[in-house]
Amino acid sequence: MFFNIPPAMQARMQELERIDERDRVDGTPRQRRLRQIPPQTGRLLAVLAANTPRGHWVEIGTSAGYSTLWLTLAALSRKEQKITTFEVLPEKAALARETFEIAEVADQVKLVEDDARKHLKSFKKISFCFLDAEKDTYLECYELIVPRLVSGGILVADNALNHREALEDFLKRSQSDPRVDALIVPIGKGEMICRKP
Ligand SMILES: C[S@@+](CC[C@H](N)C(=O)[O-])C[C@H]1O[C@@H](n2cnc3c(N)ncnc32)[C@H](O)[C@@H]1O
Repeated sequence: MFFNIPPAMQARMQELERIDERDRVDGTPRQRRLRQIPPQTGRLLAVLAANTPRGHWVEIGTSAGYSTLWLTLAALSRKEQKITTFEVLPEKAALARETFEIAEVADQVKLVEDDARKHLKSFKKISFCFLDAEKDTYLECYELIVPRLVSGGILVADNALNHREALEDFLKRSQSDPRVDALIVPIGKGEMICRKP
């Protein structure tokens, strides 16, 4: 048992897992691939998000909405949890919209079809953020998110191990940043977890 996943959500998760697996071996161009997190990372996100204090949940990099479903799962146990997810590519945003309809969570998630960096300043109290966008945007997103994290709030960034060279500046900054407690967890592609005390 894990969070008692509703059947419609589980079915869409499994469908996206099949598409993502196929994408990785059949020559689908990078821009069209879903490039989503593995299920273990989704479970980690759900457990962490479910235990955050009150505040907005933000996701940077929606793709087809697979990781967002893990967040909506964690949000089921909370009252009126706000989730905003950002996707810059229209084709991916369309897939995500389809995902949220099929999984019956469209009312729980606000999907913004734009570059997240243009919008992050408008958030006042973020209690959870999942950062899974292009690697050259991580440091900029990090600097926008950390001042807006509530006490006890958490930022998780994907690809901390499989893209450690590309993320060198971000990884150095977060691990030496006095504003957060940071560590890398070797689950999936490596998750950088930062918690604001
Ligand atoms: C690795 S995929 C996200 C996978 C998704 N989190 C999942 O696990 O299901 C990265 C996505 O981020 C989007 N993206 C990249 N930079 C972005 C930005 N600055 N703002 C919003 N979306 C961005 C890309 O178009 C791509 O669809």
